[in-house]
Amino acid sequence: MKKRILTGERPTGKLHLGHYVGSLKNRVSLQEKYDQYIIIADIQALTDNFKTPEKVSHNVCEVAMDNLAVGLDPEKTTIFIQSKIPQIAELTILFANLVTMSRLSRNPTVKSEIGEKNFGSSVPLGFFMYPVSQAADILFLNADLVPVGEDQLPHIEQTREIARSFNNIYGKVFNIPEALVGECPRLIGTDGNAKMSKSLGNCIYLSDSRDELKDKVMRMFTDPSRIHPTDPGRVEGNPVFIYHSIFNPDKEEVKDLEDRYKHGKVGDIEVKEKLFFALDKFLEPIRERRRYYEEKPNLVKEILSEGTRKTEIEAQKVMDKVKEVIGIKYT
Ligand code: TRP
Repeated sequence: MKKRILTGERPTGKLHLGHYVGSLKNRVSLQEKYDQYIIIADIQALTDNFKTPEKVSHNVCEVAMDNLAVGLDPEKTTIFIQSKIPQIAELTILFANLVTMSRLSRNPTVKSEIGEKNFGSSVPLGFFMYPVSQAADILFLNADLVPVGEDQLPHIEQTREIARSFNNIYGKVFNIPEALVGECPRLIGTDGNAKMSKSLGNCIYLSDSRDELKDKVMRMFTDPSRIHPTDPGRVEGNPVFIYHSIFNPDKEEVKDLEDRYKHGKVGDIEVKEKLFFALDKFLEPIRERRRYYEEKPNLVKEILSEGTRKTEIEAQKVMDKVKEVIGIKYT
């Protein structure tokens, strides 16, 4: 039997280059070898958007289309919607018994999100415990591998602990899943911030048009201490060069630009224009596939409902086993 992958995202906006290098790129190559599932985590998205649920529901199809646009093949990858699988909610409640409040409060990703979202000391329970629900997302399918960005690693660790704890108490039901981080676990933002993130407004989206892309690239942060093109510049930590190294396949051109930049022999404009060309070339096939799906909204809906139907069958199998080992399968 093929090993299983489960990963996904909260549908709160379109996906960007950071998602691509952190996880989407791995999904595209791994779908050949694995039985891959993508969760559109609308219930998790509600944990910090419960007052604006339309923001979540509107983005379900967008996120599905971004996944399809990068090259996920619905014949090989199953895409489903979290809220359509009630077994995940059921499992979350059973897992909540296995996690302490103090363990949850030590999760660094949740901690920094609580800060960003200005919850202060009144963190809603749903948000506080979303890592438990994420463990259910992963374990209800008994996934072996979870390709994610670096920020998700604490959640995978928590998931592994829950799986071990459940297996110890009730008997072995769950695999201990592994995380897989992309070659660039965290992508710098266009503004030089350490992380590309929607809330920071420093993203290049996979669906950006050529004009939007050009505008963003030309306004990118570079070496702030370099005033004239003849000043020697810094390549390390410079987002324009970081993107060149990741997205420009012409390694000779990149090397030449780096050399000239370090010696004050090239202006920012030329470096940025070349980055724009490279990114535009990278994004064009993604935009084209996206257009294909945008023109066929019914096809996207069908892919989601077929994916959900397939996932439900698997969910019930694991849930039956869970209830059996706990001893709550009354007949
Ligand atoms: N927490 C992830 C994010 O913010 C989304 C997510 C939900 C997820 N369930 C998951 C990721 C299961 C991997 C596996 O993007």
